[in-house]
Amino acid sequence: VSRPVDIAVVGATGLVGEALLERLGDAPFPVGSVHALASSRSAGRRVDAAGRRLKVVDLEGFDFGGCDVVVFAAPRAVVADHLPRALAAGCRVVDLSGLSALDPDVPLLVAGLSRGIHGAQRVAAPSALTVLVATVLRPLLAQTDATSIDVLALSPASALGRTGVEGLARETADLLNARPRGVGAFPQQIAFNLFPTGDRPGGCEADDLQSACELQRALGDPAPAVTVTNVRVPVFFGIAAALRVATRAGGLDADGARELLAVAPGIRLAGPDDDGGMASPVTHSAGSDDAFVGPVRDGGQNGILVLWAVADNIRHGAARNALGIIEMIVKSID
Ligand SMILES: NC(=O)c1ccc[n+]([C@@H]2O[C@H](COP(=O)([O-])OP(=O)(O)OC[C@H]3O[C@@H](n4cnc5c(N)ncnc54)[C@H](OP(=O)(O)O)[C@@H]3O)[C@@H](O)[C@H]2O)c1
Repeated sequence: VSRPVDIAVVGATGLVGEALLERLGDAPFPVGSVHALASSRSAGRRVDAAGRRLKVVDLEGFDFGGCDVVVFAAPRAVVADHLPRALAAGCRVVDLSGLSALDPDVPLLVAGLSRGIHGAQRVAAPSALTVLVATVLRPLLAQTDATSIDVLALSPASALGRTGVEGLARETADLLNARPRGVGAFPQQIAFNLFPTGDRPGGCEADDLQSACELQRALGDPAPAVTVTNVRVPVFFGIAAALRVATRAGGLDADGARELLAVAPGIRLAGPDDDGGMASPVTHSAGSDDAFVGPVRDGGQNGILVLWAVADNIRHGAARNALGIIEMIVKSID
């Protein structure tokens, strides 16, 4: 569109909303008015957006009429209540909450990988894990078929938003000062510990199943068998994934995979001179829009690839993807 695009961000005071508002300054399209929406708790606060200072408005009474695009980066229950209002007001809607991620009628988009939005009024952005794994595997799966993909996902405290970050900081300080651990954002002690995640009703089985289904959707047809094990680790920012990919025998070895990844957009290979080729959230991906991969190795049997990949869950996994999706919407309006 040649006219400026009016955008509302629901969850403007959260980790993802704040990062997205900051990124709007890099938008390759003209940005018109920006509405920063959150709960009544934050109404009246100020946030930065694309070089402007915005007053946070209470979502409850906000009229979506006049907004071109509404991005929902808030808890799922909040999105379920308010997303229909944005649709009824005729807005294009991007849902980052996971609510729409498995709805077959809603395109699930990874910017730079997904082809188009086919005129959909409502689109979904997947989890940071799906964005990372799809980004890394798409270039490989364009060259060879995979029969199965097994993912061990190491998920940081910030995957639970600000309360997760604050919870890990508080627990760490409490335990180092020999104070008892208070009730926090996590079902178990997270500081100096790790455990399978179970954020949804249904616990870790539901989490792992949603992740596997979402990843299958994002990888597209023909989707290989996917298993995911989500583990919460005491890291503040940055998601990591250990991937085991079974390709058709003779399909792709580690050298071939490295060659493809070295030229793939949005991916940086950790080389031997770069911390021994071992990518980590703190050393490599923090604050970056790219996914970092390494080591990549053969898995012992013909056709098995083993990869390690990391990315910044807020920037790469959410804000960059959301901005790319808004750009796709803007192009589709043209
Ligand atoms: N963190 C990640 O790695 C990540 C990655 C991809 C997708 N996502 C998804 O993005 C969404 C936001 O995640 P986050 O990490 O940014 O969480 P967060 O830091 O906890 O932020 C949550 C945001 O939602 C707002 N909110 C909460 N209750 C509300 C209500 N009743 N009405 C209006 N706004 C309300 C909060 O506003 P107040 O300040 O007023 O409470 C805050 O702005 C979640 O759906 C999450 O699943 C997160």
